[in-house]
Amino acid sequence: MRALLQPSATGWMVAITPEWLSRMPPPLPSGSSTTTAAATRRTTASPGRAAAGPTGLSAEELAARCDADADALFRLLRGLASVGLFAEDAPRRFVLTPLAELLRSDVAGSQRQVARMLGGEHYDAWANLLHSVRTGESAFRHRFGEGIFGWYGRNPERGAIFDGAMSDFSHVAIQGLLAAYDFGGISHLIDVGGGRGELVQEVLRRYPHLQGTLFDQPAVVAPVLVPDALEGRFAVAGGDFFTGVPSGGDAYLLKHILHDWGDEACLTLLGHVRAGLAPGGRVLILEQVIEPGNAPAPGKLLDLNMLVMTEGGRERTPQEYAALLERAGLQLRRIQPTPSPISVVEATAA
Ligand SMILES: C[S@@+](CC[C@H](N)C(=O)[O-])C[C@H]1O[C@@H](n2cnc3c(N)ncnc32)[C@H](O)[C@@H]1O
Repeated sequence: MRALLQPSATGWMVAITPEWLSRMPPPLPSGSSTTTAAATRRTTASPGRAAAGPTGLSAEELAARCDADADALFRLLRGLASVGLFAEDAPRRFVLTPLAELLRSDVAGSQRQVARMLGGEHYDAWANLLHSVRTGESAFRHRFGEGIFGWYGRNPERGAIFDGAMSDFSHVAIQGLLAAYDFGGISHLIDVGGGRGELVQEVLRRYPHLQGTLFDQPAVVAPVLVPDALEGRFAVAGGDFFTGVPSGGDAYLLKHILHDWGDEACLTLLGHVRAGLAPGGRVLILEQVIEPGNAPAPGKLLDLNMLVMTEGGRERTPQEYAALLERAGLQLRRIQPTPSPISVVEATAA
């Protein structure tokens, strides 16, 4: 097969050859259009409405309820039905499929906010992938003129969707993590950059002896309430993890944090964690660890997302974690896989 990326007068272009198309599994050429279609407000508005009855609703009925053009909405739903999101049970009538159920907010495992996140600024930034590939720089900054977390701070509506998407991801990964990793020997767990705190709260529910602290940006933790059942055991703190983190934990959890940043920024953050770590404590880095070879691994595509969306962020190999941790005065002890693609990279003071 000829190279897909070829230099041209205007830069790099994708050479779509018949051979390439014939090798491509059906959903892939339309991956971006599927994401956008799934994230369209009309689509994310549709599931609840289509759930109105077992026979579903016609495109015309749906269009009237969500202010859309009936024929365009029909074509949107027909396209999505072709990849398993909705099903056209009778001509122009659509019902939910199990995949579409995940676009509802009121179901276990909902991925509604993930769909809304991916179809927004992520999609706009990904349109600038070429900039990242050519320069190594953030496509997000190229498109929006600033880093992603600052942008979310100035666009709180989108920031809330991002925080909700992180919660959606966490809900899927938490049970596997709890099954694979024993938190029993820990007294005080501090979740650094823990978003809305679903993970640390679930660990506290599972281990009644444990104290937990959620630490994230003030605006992110502002809506987080301490549930009655965790009163006295769960604290919430706001701040900047590049300035400092709460001290005294004998375990610091960093889930999907280091992959947002380049090595130098990670060293600043890990330096604060190392300084706060109680004697004998451990650092638990939850990330998708990259292994060699060509085996399918979602982390390799997530790594591309980090290239596009962040400044210097990346998924790392075991060797890269070992080297980074050593520079931070920490030592990699083991990497514990979990049933989800996320592993626990465990480190202690060197
Ligand atoms: C990719 S999210 C991961 C959230 C959570 N750990 C999870 O896995 O669902 C990164 C988190 O880092 C937080 N964050 C980014 N910059 C920060 C900073 N300077 N200080 C504290 N938290 C920060 C964000 O608010 C966000 O919640």
